[in-house]
Amino acid sequence: MLVLGVESSCDETGVALYDTEHGLLAHALYSQVEMHAEYGGVVPELASRDHIRRVLPLTETALKEANKTLQDIDAIAYTQGPGLSGALLVGTSFAESLAFSLQIPTIQVHHLEGHLLAPLLEENPPDFPFVALLVSGGHSQLMRVDGVGEYELLGDTLDDAAGEAFDKTAKLLGLGYPGGPALSKLALSGKPRFKLPRPLLNSCDLNFSFSGLKTSVLTLTNQHQPLDDETKADIAYEFQEAVTEVLTTKCMKALRETGLDNLIVSGGVGANAKLREKLNVATKRKLCTVSYPRLEFCTDNGAMIAFAGAMRLKATHGGNKNYGFSVKPRWNLAELLKP
Ligand code: KG4
Ligand code: ZN
Repeated sequence: MLVLGVESSCDETGVALYDTEHGLLAHALYSQVEMHAEYGGVVPELASRDHIRRVLPLTETALKEANKTLQDIDAIAYTQGPGLSGALLVGTSFAESLAFSLQIPTIQVHHLEGHLLAPLLEENPPDFPFVALLVSGGHSQLMRVDGVGEYELLGDTLDDAAGEAFDKTAKLLGLGYPGGPALSKLALSGKPRFKLPRPLLNSCDLNFSFSGLKTSVLTLTNQHQPLDDETKADIAYEFQEAVTEVLTTKCMKALRETGLDNLIVSGGVGANAKLREKLNVATKRKLCTVSYPRLEFCTDNGAMIAFAGAMRLKATHGGNKNYGFSVKPRWNLAELLKP
């Protein structure tokens, strides 16, 4: 089965072709980061308009790269939510109308399920069950994954998501959008000079809380005005240390409590080199494994949607042919969880 995947939930248009027998055949991505950078964040209306411009050429590029035609496609998977409604509508209407014209089924994919399964696109993926750390701009969750669609929430953020904390702290330090990559780059030249709290590090649950960290950074920046480059780098260094230490500690606790020995990490913050370094060391010490998506599949992309769609197609034996145009901007992950 050849599945076309379409992602348009935020500021990246992603299209990919996944073959259930031969794996990922092609993927094409356009990031709107430069366009939104001058506004310091995503402008929803500009995002939707740009998705309209990109989705068809990207599909043509992916088909060409895979040496396939539209007629070869067996099903179309697309991100139905959560995300920006106008942006989601572009991918949804494109996918549904193309599927209608080809009379093939569609699969509505939850964006986070795409992220969650992305590490399985790589070589030697771990077997189910495993623990998943999902750390994106909107989510910080630990889950037990027993199979496709078999998810149990182990821990969640009580306030800001990890990526959100990176973005907000980057803003406080006067760095550009998106904040995560900029902050981690600056942290490379920082030194251990400040001490920030490690929120909920020793709590008895697997929850996270990052908004207090941002407030502590605000206090630090106020105390050191005007901020020189060295101070900014030292704050970035310590902030990254604090977030990655909490994430690593909770991942190890989740492995211990579930008795599982495989961890997967996904979502934009999963691209963070310091987090990977700490998780590699910690899991090795406990004879556990850790898997990540390749860097380009940590952030939004079409490959993870094509893959999740293919897995869903297999699990539900079909997809559907309703060809409706509804999006779910606030689609709650809880709807995918085991009751
Ligand atoms: O998964 P993603 O592309 O979008 C959502 O679904 O939210 O994640 C984007 C988030 C942003 O908050 C961004 O700052 C963060 O991931 N991010 C990073 C890094 N690369 C992206 N955070 C820390 N270090 C990075 N290298
Ligand atoms: Zn995402």
